[in-house]
Formats: sequence, structure tokens, C-alpha cells
Amino acid sequence: METADMQLKPEEIQALEEKYLFATYKRSALYCSHGSGPYLYDLSGKRYLDFLAGISVNSLGYNHPRLVRVLVEQGQRLIHSSNLFYNPFQGLLAKRLTEISGMSKAFFTNSGTEAIEASLKIARAYGHAQSSKDKSLILALTNSFHGRTLGALSITSQEQYQAPFRPLIPDVEFVGEFTPAALEKAFSERVCALVIEPVQGEGGIVPLPADFVRAARELCDRFNALLIADEIQCGLGRTGKYFAFEHYGIQPDVITMAKSLAAGYPLGVMLGNARVADSFKPGDHGTTFGGGPLACRLALEVLDVIAQEGLIRKVDELGNYLIAGLKASATRHRLISEVRGKGLMIGVQIGSEAKDIVNRLLGKGIITNAAHDTVLRLLPPFVISKSNIDEFLNTLDGILTEMEATK
Ligand SMILES: Cc1ncc(COP(=O)(O)O)c(C=O)c1O
Repeated sequence: METADMQLKPEEIQALEEKYLFATYKRSALYCSHGSGPYLYDLSGKRYLDFLAGISVNSLGYNHPRLVRVLVEQGQRLIHSSNLFYNPFQGLLAKRLTEISGMSKAFFTNSGTEAIEASLKIARAYGHAQSSKDKSLILALTNSFHGRTLGALSITSQEQYQAPFRPLIPDVEFVGEFTPAALEKAFSERVCALVIEPVQGEGGIVPLPADFVRAARELCDRFNALLIADEIQCGLGRTGKYFAFEHYGIQPDVITMAKSLAAGYPLGVMLGNARVADSFKPGDHGTTFGGGPLACRLALEVLDVIAQEGLIRKVDELGNYLIAGLKASATRHRLISEVRGKGLMIGVQIGSEAKDIVNRLLGKGIITNAAHDTVLRLLPPFVISKSNIDEFLNTLDGILTEMEATK
């Protein structure tokens, strides 16, 4: 493969970044070249089995032929046109997304964080429209992650992310305990919205308790507040249903999505139900890139592939197989204290050794990640096979045996 990336050696790539990039990332020593299905290849041609999918983005694997075809075809036709004019795909995609989610309206963005920003703005607009009194309090949960802009960061309860950037936006409170009683205590007429991740992602793959999510719906109704479900990491089939909130038998008022929506091309969306359908008026919000023709056409193809290849059912089956394998492994290995998750969104509670395990897996050609440095986070693409899962489980087993023998 003759590409520009072949001209630079790993040490040259690293040196360039060290000199010219803000030091926001601590990267692992994997120099990506290309991908195919569940495999990523480095510049030397070494093959890696990907159990992270670009953090829940590449759900169809690398270089899915149908996505590549659409990318080329639409790229030759029209990449960008602006939101001053119509493109044929934005409305079609909004229709499809509202149909699968039970929502009424869509606003497209370029990222998850921007979808969250849109949801915070609509929450405040909704609150102001409901009451002349001060209905602007936003509730969020501890251990949450919603993004890094000042708004999204304000509802992200991670001290190390927030501390350097205070003051953040006012009128945000965190609920520290995931029980109906704790939630009820936090509610008042001042609350305009509660934001939840039905399955917390960066927080270490934590599915919220069912009674808590049901109480969230009930309290939002009682206090006329919006229930916002952040499905950016857990949505679009990742948990074995289109949306993670479906596991709880509730409907949110607002949904945010991004990551796998266009399976690698940047696209996010905020979806809202009839309650908020009129909350944004022309000029209230906007974006230059969001909802462009290429991104939307890719997302339409993603939705077609998911439906036509029966991927949601496949995620459920493969997820059960992987979770069963990990639970069996937990009976043999004291380093694993818990296996949690739904579908192909799985957290293995390890302890301080999680990072070490991620590095050892990488050394053996398997990509994973550690959340909070204590949880082995698994987000494989939907196109993995049972034999990929067996390979992962056997490799992990070998690593844990090795580590336990030396302790
Ligand atoms: C649940 C959740 N919300 C929001 C975000 C932010 O999305 P993005 O990085 O696309 O801005 C993330 C990213 O990891 C996320 O996992």
C-alpha cells in the first residue's frame, strides 16, 4: 500500500506530535496505517484485533465495503453545502432516526459534545418556557462523562477534568447515589432536566439500576423536567438494542447520539420528542458542518447495514457469549472482581492492574482500553466473530495466569 503515512517512521511521527501538538493525549505506541473488518494494522504491517472500535465508533469494523462505496460516490458528488440550503439526506436521516427512537425532531452536530451542548440549551429553553420562575437547574449523575466543552464539562462529574477550568456553567447539581430516594431528594420545581447515560461509559461501563431509571422518568414527569438520555457511547445497537434506554422500558424526552452514527465520519445528533419540538426557533442554535450531505448519507448507510445484516441481534448474541466467557474467567482469576455490561459494551473490574493488562493485550495484538485505570473496557465492533472472542478470552486468560503467578 503506497500512502503518505508510509513515508514517516514511528519515531518521526512521535517527534512531530511532541513538537507541534498540545499535550492533551497520552498515546499508546500504536502507529495506525489501515484497517479491515475487526482488524487494525500498524505501519509495520502488524495486525491487531480491535476490541475497542475507536471507542465505540467503528461499529461496522474498518473499511466496510458499503461505507467505502458511499464515501467515494458522495465524495465525488457533494461533501458540504452548508445549512443555509437543503441537502437530500438530512431530512431522510432525521426521519429514520426519529422512527427508530420514538422521537419527533432532530438537530445534527459534528460530535457528541455538541449534541450534549444542544441538549443543555434546549433544557434551559424548555425550563424558561414552562415557568416565569427560575426553572434552570440541571441534574446530572456522579461518575458521568458528557464531553469537554464548558457546558458538557459542567455536567461531567470528574474532578480532574473540571478543576482546571472552573468556573463552569452555573445551576448544575450531581446526584451521588443511584437510588430512587436520592434522586427524589435532588428534585424540585427548579429542575429543567436530568441527564443520564443509561450505561455509563467512561465511568467504567456502569449500567444504571432499573428502579433508578424508572424513578428518573417518573420524577421528570412529576416536576415537568426533561429526561435526557446520553446514548453517545451506548446507543445505536451497542448494547443489543437500538438504544440502551430500551432495556429499562422508558422513553426519554431528549436523546444524544454520535460516535458510531456515521461509523467513523464525524456526526452527532440531538433528538427530541413532541414536548420539546418547538423549543428551538430559527436562530436559536446552529452549526456550519453538522448534518452535511456526506455525513448524513453515510449514517443512512450505517442504519441500512445494521438492519439488513441483523446486527442488533448479533450484538446481543455475541455479547452474551463474551460476558459468559468473562464470567467463567472470573471464577478462575482473582484479579477479576466483576463483569458488567450489556451487549458489546462490557467492563471487567480489575483494580490497579487494568492498565497493565491493556498494555499486555496490546503487546499480543489485541486493542482494549482501561476506564478509570481500573476497568478493562471492551467495545468491539459488531462484525467480530465467535472465534475472535475465543482468541481474546484465551489471550486474556494467559495474561491473568502470568500476572497472578508473579504476585
Ligand atoms: C457518553 C458520552 N457522552 C459524550 C461524549 C463526548 O463525545 P465526543 O467525544 O464525540 O464529543 C462521549 C465521548 O466519549 C461519551 O462517551
